[in-house]
Amino acid sequence: MSFYVTTPIYYVNGEPHLGHAYSTIAADILARHHRQRGEDVFFLTGTDEHGEPVAQQAEAEGVTPRELGDRLAPRFKEMAAKINASNDFFIRTTDEGHMSRVQEIVQRVYDNGHVYEGNYEGWYCPRCADFKTESEIGPDNTCPIHQIPLTRESQKNWFFKLSEFQQDLERLYEERPEFVTPDFRRNEALSFIKQGLQDVSLSRPTLKWGVPVPWDTDQVIYVWFDALLNYYTALGYGIEGEDVTEQFWPPFHILAKDILKFHAVYWPAFLMAAEIELPERMFIHGFLLMEGHKMSKSLGNVLDPDEVIAKFGADALRFYCFREVSFGQDGQISPAGFESRYETELADQYGNLANRVLSMIGRYRDGVVPEAETEGDLASDVEGAPERVRALLDDAELTQALEEIWKLVRRLNQYVEETKPWELSKDESAADRLDAVLYGLAEGLRVTTLLLHAYMPETTDRLLEALAEPSRELADFGSRPGGQTVGELAPLFPKLQTA
Ligand code: MSP
Repeated sequence: MSFYVTTPIYYVNGEPHLGHAYSTIAADILARHHRQRGEDVFFLTGTDEHGEPVAQQAEAEGVTPRELGDRLAPRFKEMAAKINASNDFFIRTTDEGHMSRVQEIVQRVYDNGHVYEGNYEGWYCPRCADFKTESEIGPDNTCPIHQIPLTRESQKNWFFKLSEFQQDLERLYEERPEFVTPDFRRNEALSFIKQGLQDVSLSRPTLKWGVPVPWDTDQVIYVWFDALLNYYTALGYGIEGEDVTEQFWPPFHILAKDILKFHAVYWPAFLMAAEIELPERMFIHGFLLMEGHKMSKSLGNVLDPDEVIAKFGADALRFYCFREVSFGQDGQISPAGFESRYETELADQYGNLANRVLSMIGRYRDGVVPEAETEGDLASDVEGAPERVRALLDDAELTQALEEIWKLVRRLNQYVEETKPWELSKDESAADRLDAVLYGLAEGLRVTTLLLHAYMPETTDRLLEALAEPSRELADFGSRPGGQTVGELAPLFPKLQTA
C-alpha cells in the first residue's frame, strides 16, 4: 500500500505564517498516520515561485523574483522543520527538474488539441493571479479574498479549452462523491462547473517570470498550471535517481477554500487533457481567523509560528490547531485560546494522566506493569477506538479523529477517579483488582498515545519510551501482556512561564 499526500505550495511573497503551517501540519498528521499503518508514504510540500504574486512583491522590494525566492523559500523550509513536518521532499517551482516536466506536460496538452490562441478581457486580481467571473467579484470591483481593487486586463494569449471538459467534470463529481470533501465544498465546486465553464488562460504574454511556453517562448506558462503540476513533477525527480510516479500517484491533496476552483475544476480537467490519472481525493479546509479575519500578510494579522512554538512547543501547536478549529470550517484562534487548551487539556488532562499512571505503577508495583487483563467496560471503550480513528482519518477528518482519541483520555481519567488505586493499595485483599486497574491504565495510555503519535510526535515518543513501547505501528495495537518495566517521565507539558 502507498499513500501520497500534498500541501499547497506557498507563494514566496512574504514570510510564512501560521496559516501556512496549518495546512502543512494537517498533511503531516496524515503522512505520519499512514506510516504508522505500515504504508509507503510520500509527503510533499514546497514553494510556488513564479507569476505575478511573486514578481509584484519583488518589484516592490527592488529585488529580482529569483532573489526573493532564494531568500524566502528557505524560510518555508525552516518552518516545515520547526513544526516537525516529515516531508519527503520540498519542491521549488524554480527547480530545473520541475520546469522541464511542466513543459513536457503542457506540450502534451497542446499536442492533444486542447490549446488555442485568443484574446481575453476581464477583471483580474494580481494577488490571486486570476481573472474573476461575475459571481466572484466583490463590491466596487474588489477581490473578496484580498480586499484590493481588481484591474481591467486584456491579453492575447494561449487558452486551455476548459469548457470542453464540462461534461467529464460533471460525470466525475457524480461518480466519485468523495473526490472533494467536505460535501459543502464539493457542492460549491460542482455548482461552479454547472454555471458553465469558460476557457482559461494558459500563458501570460507580458510577464517574463515563469516557465517558457515550449512552442512560443515569448510567453510564460500561467502560474497556476505551473504550480498545480508540482504535485506530479515532484515524484519524477524528488528522490535522487528514482522516478516514483508509478508507486505514489494519485495524490491526496490538502488545501484551503481560497484555492478550491483551481484544484477542484481546473486541475482535474487539465489532467484529463494530459491523460494523467486524476487525484484520489482532496480535502478543503477553512481559514484560521484572528480577530475575525483570515490571517494573511496583506491584512497584517498573522501569528508567527516561531513565537508560538517558542512558548508552547511544536506539539502543542499541532494539537491546538485541530482541537480549537473544526478541520474543514473557519475558526478563531488566539493566544489566550492556546494558553487555555494547553493548561486544561494538555497539562491537566493528558500530561497529568501520564504522570499519574507511571507514578502509581512505580509506587505500587515497583515500576513493573502487572500481568493482568483490562476490566470489561474500559476494555470495550479502548478496543474500538483505533478502528474509529482510522476510519475518520481515511476521510482526513482530523478534528473528529482527535476527539475520538480525547474521549479515551477523558475515560482513563474518569477510570482513575472511579477505581481509586491509592485506596486499593492499602487493602491486601484488593491486590488482584489493583493489578487489573494498573494494567488497564497502562494499556489504555499506550493505545491512546500511539493514536496521538501522528498529532504530537515528540511528546508521545517520550511517553511511549517511558511505557517501554518500542513500536509506533498501529498493527501492534494488540494488547501487551504486561511484565514490562516503565520509566520515569518529566512533565510532558510543563506549566507555562508567565512573563
Ligand atoms: N501558490 C498558491 C497555491 C498553489 S498550489 C498548487 C497559493 N499560495 S499561498 O501562499 O497563498 O497559500 C495558500 C494556502 O495557504 C491556502 O490554501 C491554505 O492552505 C494556506 N493558508 C494561508 N493562510 C491561511 C489561513 N489563514 N488559514 C488556513 N490556511 C491558510 O495560494
